[in-house]
Amino acid sequence: MSTIGILGAGTWGTALARMLSNSGHEVIVWSISNDEVDTLSSTRRHVNLPNSEIPEKIVFTTDINVACENKDILLCAVPSVFVRSTMMKAKPYIPEDQIIVDVAKGIEAETLFTMSDVIRDVLNDGKHDDVKLVVLSGPTHAEEVAQDLPTTIVSACEDIHIAEFVQNVFSNTCMRVYTNTDVLGVEICGALKNIIALAAGISTGLGYGDNAKAALITRGIAEIERLGLAMGCQEQTFSGLAGMGDLIVTATSKHSRNNRCGYLIGQGYKPADAIKQVGMVVEGVNALPAAMRLADKYSVDMPITKTVNAIINGDATASDAVMMLMGRKKKTELLNPFIDTGYEIAVVKNARMRGDQGMKRVITYGTFDLLHYGHINLLRRAKALGDYLIVVISSDEFNWNEKHKKCYFTYEQRKALVEAIRYVDLVIPEESWSQKRTDMHEYHVDTFVMGDDWKGKFDFLKEEGVEVVYLPRTPEISSSQIKRDLYDANAVDGESQIKHDDINTDPGK
Ligand code: CTP
Repeated sequence: MSTIGILGAGTWGTALARMLSNSGHEVIVWSISNDEVDTLSSTRRHVNLPNSEIPEKIVFTTDINVACENKDILLCAVPSVFVRSTMMKAKPYIPEDQIIVDVAKGIEAETLFTMSDVIRDVLNDGKHDDVKLVVLSGPTHAEEVAQDLPTTIVSACEDIHIAEFVQNVFSNTCMRVYTNTDVLGVEICGALKNIIALAAGISTGLGYGDNAKAALITRGIAEIERLGLAMGCQEQTFSGLAGMGDLIVTATSKHSRNNRCGYLIGQGYKPADAIKQVGMVVEGVNALPAAMRLADKYSVDMPITKTVNAIINGDATASDAVMMLMGRKKKTELLNPFIDTGYEIAVVKNARMRGDQGMKRVITYGTFDLLHYGHINLLRRAKALGDYLIVVISSDEFNWNEKHKKCYFTYEQRKALVEAIRYVDLVIPEESWSQKRTDMHEYHVDTFVMGDDWKGKFDFLKEEGVEVVYLPRTPEISSSQIKRDLYDANAVDGESQIKHDDINTDPGK
């Protein structure tokens, strides 16, 4: 049995208090409001959980010191906008090695801190260096937990032993707890999924069906993951319970305020009126400014988040926004730079650790048909200019329509050949001339390289903040020349006469 102090007597704090008390733990709940404490103590019901009785054993208090002192776990369950002020109040009573479990989800708009960052920031006073921070997050509607319906959740802490301790305390026949050490990933998912839930609600409000909702959920987690990976989080977190799991529940459930608020906007309500109508905190709306700034800071494309932001700020109507999303440049699901995770994560982490001295990325473009020594020589010198080489190969359509070149090898074959060269780290397709400007940002490019047959033609990329280098071509070799030579020499005829059977492959015999 553990002793647990809970800060916040909202729907989630109360549902968890009830669950923990029923599994034998000693629970005391703090609220800032006298009225709330009186009502909960006397009625033993929470207004948003009318069907769940609150056990008599649970104590409610407005004395924050009583909730903080001598507890195995201190649980922070206030809305994200009150985490800082609540922790400031609690700080004098928090022991130096306290285990703090945060269930608030969000990103502080001014600092771009996650909630565990905010708590750490408040406790950064030299006296709380040994505090252990755990984040609990997952597909967990309070209404269902309060009715003992089966639920799963993630206990995330950099120290796996502490994550396991919390896993043990919160596990019971209705609650299954998984551990994770990727705290930032879990928090990014928890904060940003609400924005996608708003989008899903808008889509339903506009009268769109399950296809659109499934698309928003799937592409929504893809953009959250893109951001998370750029910030150094782990890929698996995004397909886990705190990622995909929480997004599915928030974007599809009738309990979700974000989904409901979006629905009203889709139905034609002004965003401010929809927020008022929902009546409670709409975390997705609060998370938007921070999400936009993070996307900008890490140069990550987040089209759904951007569109929801435009709707909430009145810069686009819901139906215009759908057209904006559907009419975007054609994309592939697979060839996203951040999906090449293992290496990418290492690159990004390394860059963050080393500051400006981080990995240097080089990019080059070309057709690379009939791969030859001139190409290899260029790629070798390009790689020598940095640490990570991206090669962008003309797609078959681009090659034919824009460069007026016909290739011997298809795009997939040319890609496979170039990928086999050890200097090359990533190969992606080139589909339009305008792609280069966006690629420079999407792939965090430092240096753009081309052979000097293009000298001056791409100087405009300097405006995007990259170095532009033209390397001398290797003389007398080109794919077109090889094709012409083969054609002129008619060389193939002479070769094809010799059969393997005519060659003695073991001269020693
Ligand atoms: N390149 C090079 N030396 C060569 C041939 C090519 O440095 N002898 C460089 C080009 O300048 C370009 C890159 O390799 O930066 C890719 O070349 P590609 O577009 O495939 O051009 P070529 O092999 O020259 O093909 P083509 O003759 O069809 O233009």
